[in-house]
Amino acid sequence: MENVKKKIALITGANKGIGKEIARQLGKLGFTVVLTARDKNAGQKAVEELIGEGCDAHTVQLEVTSAPDIANLVTYLEKNFGKLDVLVNNAGIALEWDGNPTNPEKVRRTLEVNLVAPYAITEALVPLLSLSDDARVINHSSQLGSIDAAEKMWKYISGFMTVGYSTSKAGLNMLTQIQSKSLEEKGIAVAAAHPGWVKTDLGSDAAPMEVPEGAGTVVTLATMAREQFPHGQLIHKGERIPW
Ligand SMILES: NC(=O)c1ccc[n+]([C@@H]2O[C@H](COP(=O)([O-])OP(=O)(O)OC[C@H]3O[C@@H](n4cnc5c(N)ncnc54)[C@H](OP(=O)(O)O)[C@@H]3O)[C@@H](O)[C@H]2O)c1
Repeated sequence: MENVKKKIALITGANKGIGKEIARQLGKLGFTVVLTARDKNAGQKAVEELIGEGCDAHTVQLEVTSAPDIANLVTYLEKNFGKLDVLVNNAGIALEWDGNPTNPEKVRRTLEVNLVAPYAITEALVPLLSLSDDARVINHSSQLGSIDAAEKMWKYISGFMTVGYSTSKAGLNMLTQIQSKSLEEKGIAVAAAHPGWVKTDLGSDAAPMEVPEGAGTVVTLATMAREQFPHGQLIHKGERIPW
């Protein structure tokens, strides 16, 4: 077993986009980072890039909706690190933004990836997180899951407020609140992050924010003093976003 004293951070969907950048920034801060990717080669490529920049980076194949993949992930972490300090449930999809009407199949798949998977992955990793002296779970959510934003900003954001994506992120916000209460006795702190509107494959080139800035909210939540941690809240750049 290697690296038991170093902090271990696991980021799902980290072969590209904000997830890879979170891994890069945490890696440069001294974390051992485990990047998961559903495409093994894409994960390997991202890890080689980060190792080339001096990070202690590793990759595991994970389709986030696959129970066998989640079981393999737990075994890998147990064998190699014996604990987990930070879990970032980052992998997400917005497949309804393809210009076509949404439908129940798209909604079902979006809920599976964006909501059910973070729940299942966190549950599976609770035993390893419990072995950390400062365990944190950060769910990568969105302001598009805020009911307050839907009420007050509808005319600006209605084009992005698709049924599957927004309800999956609203559900993730509630999951965050539930986990922050139910995992407290195990010493696991949980919060949700909104990165901003960020230039990625999901966010598109129209987004105003660059990826390094978009990673900032999660990186701050992963590294801030434990006493300041905003348990159960949805945070953007240090500020709470209303539900
Ligand atoms: N960009 C924004 O403006 C924005 C705003 C608010 C919230 N967010 C949230 O931030 C997170 C990261 O988004 P991003 O902008 O970085 O998107 P991205 O560049 O499209 O990256 C998404 C990542 O999730 C992975 N993924 C998708 N489905 C998966 C599955 N079933 N199993 C495993 N991995 C899967 C993708 O893998 P593949 O490469 O294999 O597809 C990719 O690594 C998401 O949760 C998103 O909802 C983003």
